[in-house]
Amino acid sequence: MKQIKSDFLWGGATAANQLEGAYATDGKGLSIADVMPGGKHRMNVIHDPQFDFELKEEYTYPNHDGIDFYHHYKEDIALFAEMGFKTYRMSIAWSRIFPNGDETEPNEAGLQFYDNVFDELLKNGIEPLVTISHYELPLHLAKEYGGWRDRRLVTFFERYSRVLFERYQGKVKYWLTFNEINGAQFMPMLSLGMAMREDENMLQSTYQGLHHQFVASSLATKAAREIDPSMQIGCMLIAAPVYAYSSNPVDVQFALEAERMMNYFCGDVHVRGAYPAFADRFFAENGIELVFEDGDLDLLRDYTVDFFSLSYYMSRTEKAEKDGDEAGGNIMSGVKNPYLKASDWGWEIDPDGLRIILNKLYDRYQIPLFIVENGLGAYDEVEPDGAIHDSYRIAYLEGHLKAMMEAIQDGVEMMGYTSWGCIDLVSASTGEYSKRYGFIYVDKHDDGSGTLARSRKDSFYWYKEVIATNGAAL
Ligand code: BG6
Repeated sequence: MKQIKSDFLWGGATAANQLEGAYATDGKGLSIADVMPGGKHRMNVIHDPQFDFELKEEYTYPNHDGIDFYHHYKEDIALFAEMGFKTYRMSIAWSRIFPNGDETEPNEAGLQFYDNVFDELLKNGIEPLVTISHYELPLHLAKEYGGWRDRRLVTFFERYSRVLFERYQGKVKYWLTFNEINGAQFMPMLSLGMAMREDENMLQSTYQGLHHQFVASSLATKAAREIDPSMQIGCMLIAAPVYAYSSNPVDVQFALEAERMMNYFCGDVHVRGAYPAFADRFFAENGIELVFEDGDLDLLRDYTVDFFSLSYYMSRTEKAEKDGDEAGGNIMSGVKNPYLKASDWGWEIDPDGLRIILNKLYDRYQIPLFIVENGLGAYDEVEPDGAIHDSYRIAYLEGHLKAMMEAIQDGVEMMGYTSWGCIDLVSASTGEYSKRYGFIYVDKHDDGSGTLARSRKDSFYWYKEVIATNGAAL
């Protein structure tokens, strides 16, 4: 029976806009994440089809401060090393490198910052795993170009990727092109930097924007092969098995269609190098006519990914006729599953679903899988002696890691696992600090107060043991 590999990449994951802070330091331009307000306004803005991408006086912007990783990265990386991380997934803020996104020359101070971070990681024996674009399109590209609906972004992204590959070759081997690329179907604003224009068929623009990202991802893969063939390029999708609520064939068909669009539409283009057969009917029924340029389909076919990375937080249950029983979640809809409990934010907890989706993805694609996000957002309480007893987080992670081990024994090839928000940071969907994921607590709060001091939660010691024993402690 297959077991976890000895070179399995254990670690943690973050995104630049959610932890770096220093949002306007050393020449950094604004990104769309910088105009996302904190707290209850965040979700409204994410789903506001007419969002104007402007900063507003009545809102607060926690991403501007993050947890100030920009000035604390040495201390934070030392803590990652203490836990025994083999890898650290992070993203590069595009607007640190190209402040507006459409310049021809990069910002040296931005490049230098990531050189410093990579050097610190390598010094500590930690392999960087880098997302090129994680929900932080330069704001100028959203406002002046209308985001990814504009083909010119393909060129800007290719240029940005080439600069990164040339600068960091020899330091960074593992790259992911777009974070949760399939999320564009649910939140075009965050993924594609697009608000709806008057009388626009938003589905047409969304899938055109996604096509541009697919082409950009293939061009980046081509650039990596040319610059340093030892680089490994992965796609990144939010993954979830979609269950039918009942055995009524109508529900089963509905769930099948939801699962195809959720997991396979983007996965097929990235891995198989072609749009899936079911796409034609979906496009026809939704009035979508994609514009392809000469050579696009060849690029998609010739430059597919080396590995498939995914985030997993919850499964999804679907039925054809909903009657007010919708489940919570970050970006996907669905109905409540009576067999599952949910987190404080209504995200259903389903470790078995992880084993199921890993098997489904591996059955279809047969390339190595990498879980690059998984975790529990929860309220933590600091005891008078400073301890944080987060047994709920340990239970969540333990359940999911055991499910991953089962999938490995089922025959699934796994490269690694990076738990989301290994250090507390700003939540993407709610803009809160109080929705904490970390093994490392950061003294920073929703009202902006806090010393930024870092401390170890109980889960810190637990994860350290899991890594040290390569999973045998589970
Ligand atoms: C993923 C994103 O969807 O979920 C992360 O890639 C995000 O950026 C994570 O932080 C958890 O979601 P949230 O809303 O709890 O921060």
